[in-house]
Amino acid sequence: MRIGVMDSGVGGVTVLAEALRRLPGEDYVYFADTRNVPYGEKPKDEVRRFIFEGVERMLELDMKALVIACNTATSIAAAELRKTYDFPIIGMEPAVKPAVLKNETHEKRVLVCATSLTLKETKYKELVSAVDRKHIVDSLALPGLVELAERGMFEGSEAEAYLRQELSKLELANYGTAVLGCTHFPLFSQVFRKVLSPGTDIIDGAEGTVKHLASVLDREGLSGGGSGRVLFESSGCRETDLLVFQAALEQARSLIL
Ligand code: DGL
Repeated sequence: MRIGVMDSGVGGVTVLAEALRRLPGEDYVYFADTRNVPYGEKPKDEVRRFIFEGVERMLELDMKALVIACNTATSIAAAELRKTYDFPIIGMEPAVKPAVLKNETHEKRVLVCATSLTLKETKYKELVSAVDRKHIVDSLALPGLVELAERGMFEGSEAEAYLRQELSKLELANYGTAVLGCTHFPLFSQVFRKVLSPGTDIIDGAEGTVKHLASVLDREGLSGGGSGRVLFESSGCRETDLLVFQAALEQARSLIL
């Protein structure tokens, strides 16, 4: 049986790449909801419906566990999905806590980059208020990066110009850590490195999510039985989507440290 990995589009490959590295003895099915991407700029109820439709479609593909490789979808639907389905569901959220712990004693700030919908949700606001005692967290939506990733444009001048423009509003030297709280963003980690102040760490949720997946599979006696095969499905034009998916997966694999 397979591990399902779902995202609004290609961003979830940043989690899939880590899963393939850490858990090569599993088979995967990746579902990209490319007909409905971006989730992050749409109304919550609409996104919730897309997510449930996507999961229903994945159920036909012999899944033993599901990774919601999307911070936005996790904040909108993870709790409800867990009530609806009886297989393990692993979600993800911006890695705010480790970033705050690392920076609060050094008087540096934390920049959380995510989608507008993630940042608007109560789940995120509660996460920040629980850990950000010194008010060092700033949040920034970067919808342009989702759009560029879906066009396969992970490098090059457009992404850099966009990021420079968006980050020009901030005093970059003040930040100790940038949290990439959208799975599309690590595809641009080289561009982030170029634009952020030297020495700023960049963290994302892929490693933690896959560690959590591994422990859940172990606990449930569901580990193994595969060989790193990946089946790709999308809700848009499969041929075009497959090409972007392959390029994104290659990019994500080359960027894993
Ligand atoms: N990859 C997604 C996330 O982690 C969402 C991108 C989008 O569809 O706006 O939040």
